[in-house]
Amino acid sequence: PAVEFGLEAPFSVEYHETIGSTNDRARELAAEGAADVAVLADEQTGSRGRLEREWSSPSGGVWVSIVSRPTITPARAPLYTLAAAVATARAAREAGVDARIKWPNDVVVPVGDDGDYRKLAGILTEMEGETDRVDWIVPGIGVNANVDADALPEGATSVRDEAGDVDRRRFVQRLLEEFDGYRSDLETVVPAWRDLALTLGQRVRVDRPAGEVVGEAVDITDSGALVIETDDGQETVSAGDCEHLRPV
Ligand code: BTN
Repeated sequence: PAVEFGLEAPFSVEYHETIGSTNDRARELAAEGAADVAVLADEQTGSRGRLEREWSSPSGGVWVSIVSRPTITPARAPLYTLAAAVATARAAREAGVDARIKWPNDVVVPVGDDGDYRKLAGILTEMEGETDRVDWIVPGIGVNANVDADALPEGATSVRDEAGDVDRRRFVQRLLEEFDGYRSDLETVVPAWRDLALTLGQRVRVDRPAGEVVGEAVDITDSGALVIETDDGQETVSAGDCEHLRPV
């Protein structure tokens, strides 16, 4: 329960030492009508990443999925995922890590000044609803916390490698409190995201179903879409896989 976890935010926490995927459990709870529950695990055996990718979840990480029932339209749902990224980055910064955000919602640590990075955390959001309303939304957040980056896929880093081990309970408290603040005031999400963005100002390639877009990332819109300045003018991309390119 929330009280035992010492939370100011209105979440109860369901903790598992080992679980398949906290997102699967959160979806189950959402289907049963639950709200404001955070499912937390020390280790996951079947965790899922974005775009059908695998995600590695060894013991020592922060693997958490939040069941939320917002009264928003599906068009605003991306703001929830951006809010989770901002909350995660801010909790990591509090732990001493130079966490930034790669569009849309990867929490990364910059390497050098050319837009290179290592990935610290990722977010997989799942939701259900009608065309005009969201029934439930589950941002699933994976933070490489107290794990060796060596034990993670290439290109990953961890709080341990960047700043030393963190008190995971405090980290989760901070994350949930930040997330609660942003979700209750969605207007604050995009400005906070911009402040932490690594992608803005970078040359990027975004892969999306309609084809790829290459150019300079110049801003995000009020709903979190990426604005890219291409050779042929501006393009706005609402979803896709974003890669930072070397400056030309
Ligand atoms: C990504 O591909 O970057 C997203 C990774 C999301 C991983 C988290 S860990 C908690 C939750 N449970 C899962 O199975 N996936 C998400």
